[in-house]
Amino acid sequence: MTKLTPLHGKRILLIIGGGIAAYKTLELIRRLADKGVRVRAIMTKAAHEFVTPLSVSSLTGEKVYTDLFDLTDEAEMGHIQLSRDADLLLVAPATADLMARMVAGMANDLATTALLATDKPVMVAPAMNVRMWEHKSTQRNIAQLTQDGVGFIGPDDGDMACGEFGPGRLSETPDIIAALENHFNTSTGPLAGRHILVTSGPTHEPIDPVRYLANRSSGKQGHAIAGSLASLGAQVTLVAGPTAQPNPSGVTVVPVETARQMLAACQTALPADGVICAAAVADWRVAQDAEQKMKKGPDGVPALALTENPDILATISQLPQGQRPALVVGFAAETEKVIEHATAKLARKKCDWLVANDVSPESGVMGGDMNTVHVLSATGRDDWPQLSKTEVADRLARKVADYFTS
Ligand code: C5P
Repeated sequence: MTKLTPLHGKRILLIIGGGIAAYKTLELIRRLADKGVRVRAIMTKAAHEFVTPLSVSSLTGEKVYTDLFDLTDEAEMGHIQLSRDADLLLVAPATADLMARMVAGMANDLATTALLATDKPVMVAPAMNVRMWEHKSTQRNIAQLTQDGVGFIGPDDGDMACGEFGPGRLSETPDIIAALENHFNTSTGPLAGRHILVTSGPTHEPIDPVRYLANRSSGKQGHAIAGSLASLGAQVTLVAGPTAQPNPSGVTVVPVETARQMLAACQTALPADGVICAAAVADWRVAQDAEQKMKKGPDGVPALALTENPDILATISQLPQGQRPALVVGFAAETEKVIEHATAKLARKKCDWLVANDVSPESGVMGGDMNTVHVLSATGRDDWPQLSKTEVADRLARKVADYFTS
């Protein structure tokens, strides 16, 4: 017998935006149909330039909707009914333009009208050129949509149709499906209804437009924690420094580069029930990064004056009551006297738990797949055996779930 997934019998209204990645939605519709999902589709006018309504309707087995004014005749289904007669609205590919119109609450075509009229959860799978993704306007729109409760799937990093490389690729079909499954799981997991913020990866602190200060963090542990929390039903926002890690499924990922951007993204993502600061944030940045590439010259080697970065963990831990998340967890990567330094850090940063690990070069933890950690809190210390980073993540997520359910 086939195992029924959480998607079986669900109704998804798929809003196809006008981007080159629109062709991938044909495969997505097929795979969703395999899972027993009934898909209805709205296409924007621009989407018609990339896929035909005929292909979409052949795969959904339903009429494809495009024109707002077609639906004003009540002999047809009205746009309100169209948007409410679904368990979830999925925008894929979500273009920069479509997201901007969602933020502005516009209703100037059927796609945005359905998004404005719905009372159902909305998820977006963005796809656009990397510069458009990184543009301040788009980042502002992402932050606003996240705050409005819109779930993000991707985008992925990689080669783009426009010949550039970076974040902006539409997530792969299996990842979109996993994120949807996760969404429908969240009504049942022990962390359902909880918003947890996770930081992960290193930060890059610019020296000039081409050089930066960084560290060896791979983001493996932080990303795994975000994924484990999502699989227990949490709504997870992952603020991630530059890493090669794939976006964990069912997690809203906010990519950042510097410590200051990471702090700002965390502040935007709050309020949260819990925060796990697993990022290896650079303690210092260059006081004044150069606007142009620094040149070798007769004046010898440049001296870099450093200045301190904000401490994200300490800032969140010390928020006033009412704003402070109930559970704040820090990490301490130490190369010597692990327990002694971690105990001091727990007190200094004023977090609730501190996960300490030995990252001396002999331990192979940095970039590796294994980790040996000690979880410190005001009530004592748990020494966990050597585990894979995925096992550490699962164990920590279960501990977080116990905290919120006991
Ligand atoms: O002080 P140290 O960097 O060892 O502290 C590690 C913990 O503090 C980690 O949880 C890390 O994510 C967090 N941290 C931070 N912002 C900084 C430095 C560290 O959130 N600027």
